[in-house]
Amino acid sequence: MDFEKRIKDLLDARKDKQEYRQLSLQSYPIDLTSNDYLGLSKSAWIKNKVSESYQKSFQRNGATGSRLLSGNSQYIESLEAKIADFHHGESSLIFNSGFDANLGLISTICRGENDVIIYDELVHASIHQGIKLSGVTGVLFQHNNVADLEMILKQNAHANCFVVIESFYSMDGDKAPLKDIVALKQKYQFELIVDEAHALGIFGQQGRGLCNEAGIESDCLARIYTFGKAMGTHGAAIVGSKILTEYLINFCKPFIYSTALSSHNLWSVEHSYKFILKNDIQLVKLNNIIEYFKYIFEHQKWVELIGVGPVFGLKIGDAKSTREMAKRLNEHGFDIRPIVYPTVARGSERLRICLHSYNTKDEIDMLFKVLKEMHL
Ligand SMILES: Cc1ncc(COP(=O)(O)O)c(C=O)c1O
Repeated sequence: MDFEKRIKDLLDARKDKQEYRQLSLQSYPIDLTSNDYLGLSKSAWIKNKVSESYQKSFQRNGATGSRLLSGNSQYIESLEAKIADFHHGESSLIFNSGFDANLGLISTICRGENDVIIYDELVHASIHQGIKLSGVTGVLFQHNNVADLEMILKQNAHANCFVVIESFYSMDGDKAPLKDIVALKQKYQFELIVDEAHALGIFGQQGRGLCNEAGIESDCLARIYTFGKAMGTHGAAIVGSKILTEYLINFCKPFIYSTALSSHNLWSVEHSYKFILKNDIQLVKLNNIIEYFKYIFEHQKWVELIGVGPVFGLKIGDAKSTREMAKRLNEHGFDIRPIVYPTVARGSERLRICLHSYNTKDEIDMLFKVLKEMHL
């Protein structure tokens, strides 16, 4: 086998379709791309608190092992208890990333021949990988379409159904109809798993997420909260029952066979939670800029805008023009990335705009002007 030729052909095919990806060190001053919605990754308060923790309780740089070996600590267990408490769950288990958490959870809980995973067509790649790894049949339903979901539940009435959704979809920038989905439990039996990656810190009481906002926290088998978005740090937690945590500790491979997060990482998670508990100033700023963005962009006939904020999409529809437009916006100082297949479906390529507490009205005005000049 000529392996190099095989992978070169695949890369060339991507280039031909304008779908080639590459890492870049280029940065632009106006951030409309990162997931740091509240600016917490740069918070001086969190930085100082983490430094204080370092001074007071430093023991080791790395965790030195997985949680089941040398990587466990009283600190991580007490943090898990606080996270569970904050999210009104019985228990929580920390994972090294949201990707690990989704992949691990879904591939571990769905195992039997009679299991079916029913998922929204727009769920994150980590959920798709979890489904693949589980070996269980996956059936997709149309994005946020409760009637479609109901039809699939009806067709699978004799199976053990697991419904997997996100509460806020980070590409279309819209919310799941959580209450309507939970209402289906009155007619059909299923377990609900909700990925709250992009809702933590932004929605619900003190940023508790959309399950909190909708009052459906206790209706979920598991909720996934990731720390790499609005919390400005890294890692994730699965919130659920005590027995679910016990089961994951015993069976979930990405949890069992991976070095635990470092103390530094855990301190930043703890202080980010403390920040959002005490402080809503960043959220107020974010909501103000979202309102301003909507005021400027909504009802404009020349642009197809999707999303409710903090994520919006400007639909362009093909990879080549999306890339070209992103490039021109970059030249004006906007950090905006083109979102193309396979991240989104072909034909729905878009410019993705993430707003932050630190974006200004002047930046939004300038974006509007530049886009209009490009005859979008
Ligand atoms: C909905 C969703 N779930 C999970 C993840 C993965 O989280 P992490 O970046 O912590 O691996 C992401 C990241 O983009 C996401 O958008």
